Amino acid sequence: MDVLQAIFTRRSIRKFTGEPISEENMQTLLKAGFSAPSAHNSQPWHFVVVKNPASLEYIAEAHPYAKMLPKAGSCIIVCGDNNVQKAKGFLVEDCSAAIQNILLAAHGLGLGAVWCGLYPAPELTQLIATAIKLPDHIDPIGMVVVGHKAEDREPANRFDNAKIHYDQW
Ligand SMILES: Cc1cc2nc3c(=O)[nH]c(=O)nc-3n(C[C@H](O)[C@H](O)[C@H](O)COP(=O)(O)O)c2cc1C
Repeated sequence: MDVLQAIFTRRSIRKFTGEPISEENMQTLLKAGFSAPSAHNSQPWHFVVVKNPASLEYIAEAHPYAKMLPKAGSCIIVCGDNNVQKAKGFLVEDCSAAIQNILLAAHGLGLGAVWCGLYPAPELTQLIATAIKLPDHIDPIGMVVVGHKAEDREPANRFDNAKIHYDQW
């Protein structure tokens, strides 16, 4: 899929068939995450792939907006290493760039995916840190729920001239 077509047609997918995604596709998604830009090229990310049904159920029960997770069958929890990227703001931006890359790659592969927020909600970051046994210097930033989609959504045109400013506000 052409990159602009992918950007313009990607939507959050929350309905899944239950069929697991292939290991080859998972590797492609991870490669997309690793290809993101990062401040100082510090690449502070770690990717925790969760497929264990009990873990997916546990996270879905506690996360109020990730009920689709067990049916999707997998997620990639994108985490940032505070020992590598000491500026928290940059850490979040770096991991968010990786998340967006993964979302677009999933769409390009014909899979469905949705970004489920974790950082900066303490109840969600603590839940995830416990569930996947994160060391103290690692922050969970966001979770990409991914699987085979059971819905198609129309592209959303959000272009808004009123939000474009030239040279000054
Ligand atoms: C930081 C962030 C957190 C999000 N958290 C959730 C979430 O917890 N659950 C969910 O279903 N969607 C979540 N979304 C997806 C948004 O709801 C979605 O991107 C938005 O409604 C626009 O729709 P679209 O992605 O289809 O273009 C999140 C998106 C972002 C960027």
